[in-house]
Amino acid sequence: MATRVRSYSKINLGLAIGPVRADGFHALTTLYQTLALHDLVTVSARRAAATRIVLTTNDARVPVDERNTCWKMVERALARLDVSAEVAIHIEKRLPVQGGMGAGSANAAAALLGLERELGVSLGGSERLRLAGEVGSDVPLFLLGGAVLGLGRGELVFPMPDFPPMWCVVAVPEVGVSTPQAFRDWDEKQGSGIRDQGSGGAPGLTSAAGVDRLNELSLAYASLSAVTGEGERGTSGIVRGQSPDDKRVVSGENQAGAINDLAENALLALVRTGIGNDGLHNDFEDVVFPQHPSLRAIKRQLMGDSASGEGTALYAALSGSGSALFGLYRSEAEAREVQRRAQAAGVKALVTTTLPRQEYWSEMFAE
Ligand code: C5P
Repeated sequence: MATRVRSYSKINLGLAIGPVRADGFHALTTLYQTLALHDLVTVSARRAAATRIVLTTNDARVPVDERNTCWKMVERALARLDVSAEVAIHIEKRLPVQGGMGAGSANAAAALLGLERELGVSLGGSERLRLAGEVGSDVPLFLLGGAVLGLGRGELVFPMPDFPPMWCVVAVPEVGVSTPQAFRDWDEKQGSGIRDQGSGGAPGLTSAAGVDRLNELSLAYASLSAVTGEGERGTSGIVRGQSPDDKRVVSGENQAGAINDLAENALLALVRTGIGNDGLHNDFEDVVFPQHPSLRAIKRQLMGDSASGEGTALYAALSGSGSALFGLYRSEAEAREVQRRAQAAGVKALVTTTLPRQEYWSEMFAE
């Protein structure tokens, strides 16, 4: 019997890039949020005298050899478990490839969970996270799900209190953005001290200033869950509520009617956490938008019509280094209207919801 795993995607609600570290990676502080939009990863495995991995996919752009994140993960996991096995993995792609939505990273986490289930074995919690971090900076977040604080190079993950689910539109532009190149462009920009005023760019950073800035942002994120003494709710108003999607109602806590206000308050508190009065921000926008002005235009479109307030996003941004962008909305109707407008302008757009931790795990293993 094969195990079918929903390999969910992520967006970055904010992302601050710090200095280059001795290992060549960049220090960063980010707040990840998982989405319901997913690929499907099917794993079958049985113990054998020698390890053999066979990968298949419905998308010709996905490598099916040792370059694939699922391959790397399974090979390493078997070595750590000291097990040899014949493993077949099929990746059904629905998410954009290299779109800043963590699809390849999520596939690796799904392959690990499928492998463990198939073989009836499990790596310890911290061992799993360490292994995931070796495969990629964005892999460990998918072993937590929901709202996740990412530190280090993004691989040191901390579960945050969840936001109530929100409607989300993901725009999938045709241009591709290389993550390593975007980091190099960021470094060059810091070196030259150029600021992209249009997107509220960060000040040029010395190493020390860069670290201070990351520390400040992680404190701001953490303070969202601070308890004020007004019962269980933190200063941010982050509380659990009801899903906007009736198929996913959170543990019977029906707060119909209040949900959109709660999601809005929590998110608006987050939007204000930005440092230096810049508000919540993804630093990659400062280097990616000048190179691809069409992406800045799509962000504006996702932000919506602020004059009428109709279809106005609670927040919109580039996800990771892009090229996917997202907008978060109060209602399905607003999300559908924004999707319709984006598609009329020739941009592929998908409607989904944010996925809190509980739903992430309860719906992970597909029938
Ligand atoms: O860890 P991951 O495989 O996702 O990283 C891909 C590339 O992105 C790295 O090789 C590195 O060039 C760059 N990167 C970085 N700093 C990070 C994460 C990634 O420079 N925090």
